[in-house]
Amino acid sequence: MAFWNRRKPIEAPAHAELKRTLSWPHLVALGVGAIVGAGIYALIGQGAGMAGPGVIVSFAIAGSVCACAALCYAELATMMPASGSAYTYTYSSLGEFAGWMVGWALILEYSVVVSAVAVGWSGYASGLLTGWGLDIPQMLPFGELGGHALHFNPLAVFIIFAVAGLLILGTRESAWINSALVVLKIAALLLFLAIALPAFDISRFTPFAPFGWGSTPTETGTNIGVMAGAAVMFFAFYGFDAVSTAAEETKNPGRDLAIGIVGSMLICTLLYMAVGAAAIGAMDFRAFAASGEPIALIVRALGQPEAAAIIGGVASIAIPTVILAFLYGQTRIFYVMARDGLLPRSWSRVHSKLGTPVFITLFTAVVCSALAGLLTLGEIASLANAGTLAAFIAVAVAVMVLRRREPGLERPFRTPLAWLLAPLAIVGCVYLFSSLNTGTIQRFFIWMAIGAPVYLLWGAHKSALATKR
Ligand code: ALA
Repeated sequence: MAFWNRRKPIEAPAHAELKRTLSWPHLVALGVGAIVGAGIYALIGQGAGMAGPGVIVSFAIAGSVCACAALCYAELATMMPASGSAYTYTYSSLGEFAGWMVGWALILEYSVVVSAVAVGWSGYASGLLTGWGLDIPQMLPFGELGGHALHFNPLAVFIIFAVAGLLILGTRESAWINSALVVLKIAALLLFLAIALPAFDISRFTPFAPFGWGSTPTETGTNIGVMAGAAVMFFAFYGFDAVSTAAEETKNPGRDLAIGIVGSMLICTLLYMAVGAAAIGAMDFRAFAASGEPIALIVRALGQPEAAAIIGGVASIAIPTVILAFLYGQTRIFYVMARDGLLPRSWSRVHSKLGTPVFITLFTAVVCSALAGLLTLGEIASLANAGTLAAFIAVAVAVMVLRRREPGLERPFRTPLAWLLAPLAIVGCVYLFSSLNTGTIQRFFIWMAIGAPVYLLWGAHKSALATKR
């Protein structure tokens, strides 16, 4: 069969052995735990630098787009709980080539998220170590390449390899550690609110959108404006797929998943808007825009060094779990694509004693370290967003295609108002994508342009469906 007609069969949801013990409050906690990370702790500085006080509107826009996409995602995730997420959904609905391209975009997304979160983490770790008298800078400059300053981020590289080591040894996030870290992450942000709000000065909100409402390119290659801020702060919202993966253990998936996803998005959006407003009200946004640890910096500037150390400590302990989740996700994407024959099958090999994909984990760690060591947080996060937005668009299209083509398939969760929300997700994602800076959009398309011939030369002939007799 020609490759454009090949589609992976949809595996029906297993009527599972797993006990249905979870209800929506658990799912909301799970979602918030997976979502809150470097985005709010570190990237918010750059977001405020791009959007000004209007960054709180950027959060609302990014959160709403993400919620629409997340509801589409949940329908497919519960229909085909097989691993591989957006790659598998696209392969089954839009065919092998589209599936490959989405998988290729996901490889970019996952690697780059790992790098971005590691860079975000390094800001806090560096601040914390400095407090202990150990001066390890976040960025060590070492020259220039084509007008681009090169620097090395030793802490980011360290944390990626440390987490990769844990994954190779077979570590998974345990439910109780996750719950404890969720509480800590949120408590640290509430502590920030308690310290920053008394210093609130409304005059710092004028002008509210000093760089405009759109996304305007600047000479430095970055974009500014409220939409430019939304396109970057979108990073702070993903991770919600953790909620869909718990579907099989949910008592009433139809209701609980919708509440879990929308609830965790809503809580994160409100929390992010509150933290953004408190930060801007407490200090001129220009003063923390370039900081690697903006939340701790503001608290320190308000005369509370102990609280700053607590916030830095919590960020340093909790943020690596986001790295763990995405590095794990990355190895799974490689694994599923290799199993489908679209990548060399040897990549899906697991170590005989450890039972984990050692080669692919180390390979991913090397690539992520190179990115994290060389690029800045804003650059990497934007690139991660480009890959994610592309995957979300494919997911929203896939929901509509499957509703038409396979109306009778079992759907434990149905996207509410699918014919409204899926097109909204597509329009929102396209708009955010177009608000990214030109350099990011170019890098994304270069990556995708490499992916197409890789598929035609390899996957099109080697895929499991192509070689099946
Ligand atoms: N939403 C995750 C974070 O902000 C990726 O770290």
